[in-house]
Amino acid sequence: MSNKIWTEVNLVTMQIGDKPYGLISDAAIVVESDHIAWIGPKDEIPNHYDYDMVYCEGAFMTPGLIDCHTHLIYGGNRIDEFEKRLNGASYEEIAMAGGGILSTVKATRDATEKELVTSAQKRLACLMDEGVTTAEIKSGYGLDVQTELKMLSVAKRLNMSPRIDILSTFLGAHALPPEYKTNRSGYIDLIIDEMLPAIAKHQLAQAVDGFCENIGFTCDEMEKVFVAAKKYGFDLKLHAEQLSDQNGAQLAAKYGALSADHLEHLSEAGVIAMKNSGTVAVLLPGAYYTLQDDKLPPLDLIRKHNVPMAVATDSNPGSSPVLSLKLMINMASTIFKLTPEESLAGVTRNAAKALGLNDRGVLGVGKNADMVLWDITHPAELAYQVGGTNPISIIKNGEIIK
Ligand code: NIG
Ligand code: FE
Repeated sequence: MSNKIWTEVNLVTMQIGDKPYGLISDAAIVVESDHIAWIGPKDEIPNHYDYDMVYCEGAFMTPGLIDCHTHLIYGGNRIDEFEKRLNGASYEEIAMAGGGILSTVKATRDATEKELVTSAQKRLACLMDEGVTTAEIKSGYGLDVQTELKMLSVAKRLNMSPRIDILSTFLGAHALPPEYKTNRSGYIDLIIDEMLPAIAKHQLAQAVDGFCENIGFTCDEMEKVFVAAKKYGFDLKLHAEQLSDQNGAQLAAKYGALSADHLEHLSEAGVIAMKNSGTVAVLLPGAYYTLQDDKLPPLDLIRKHNVPMAVATDSNPGSSPVLSLKLMINMASTIFKLTPEESLAGVTRNAAKALGLNDRGVLGVGKNADMVLWDITHPAELAYQVGGTNPISIIKNGEIIK
């Protein structure tokens, strides 16, 4: 691996400190092998770093972007459902009529592993072109042992690319599969007795997630899944309070979950519980926008209690057919009213935290050399401009991949 000095660069380190964005102007960053060895003003580079220079001509460098909540692997699409919603049907009505997530489950069960790899790779490429160097992908469109394992094997294959790290999350508790329609507890048992052991045995996921909702699973059901998941050492996450307040955030906090995601209907008690457990609030403006929601997450409360906010695409065929994390930076600001700095922290520093990763998400000594070089004049431009700003260069683990 080659060592390099990137110089004449404005470093958007995203480190917490005195300067907005952790900005270091007219700086240099020394990369040794796959990590950052030094960072500082360009005139102060220590002499012993005698490496090739890359002159950045005043461009801005951010950490590699992190999409910490996606459902990128699935069969088919839900264009018909999109049209139904435009004609007035709600997401819940479609789900209760057997459409929604379950229609994607059918298409995903019918797809071969190879077909799923090909379609997911295409979607992932869209994110990577924008500077995403780490992404999380959830299962949850299989809902039987074989198809859940198939989805997670696809994620494992996507993770073989040196251009991106994929973290896999098992989302067996996404919806009740049709064959268990009259046997809810039987499906929870299937998750606990068969799916979790198989996934643990083959090391196919880092985390376990669930959809805690009227059209998903109750807190009691999710608690059983969490208790079992913890025994295997999985990290936990939860789709919480998206369509109603189920006290899912409190459940996530009780079990020390890395994140609770969506949160439009989150209460102050939920926010406080998340604060106390260090659970990250993952905001998903793409789903809010697609479902034409009108209840914003309680951002003032989340800020008041200092709960870190991450931002992700939630890329999925139903509630968020979104393949642009950059657009989410914009929407987090325009729709959720995050400051551009909060939005950018949401796809870097706090996204790393939502995945339990402390080796990335900021530019700093010892961190992974995952970096993106942008032709912009201010970091806020990443939130301001819609389209048109593509990375000049993308560096993953020290290797220039674009
Ligand atoms: O995060 N809320 C539940 N799960 C996904 C939607 C999945 C789907 O509609 O296919 C979400 O929005
Ligand atoms: Fe989701």
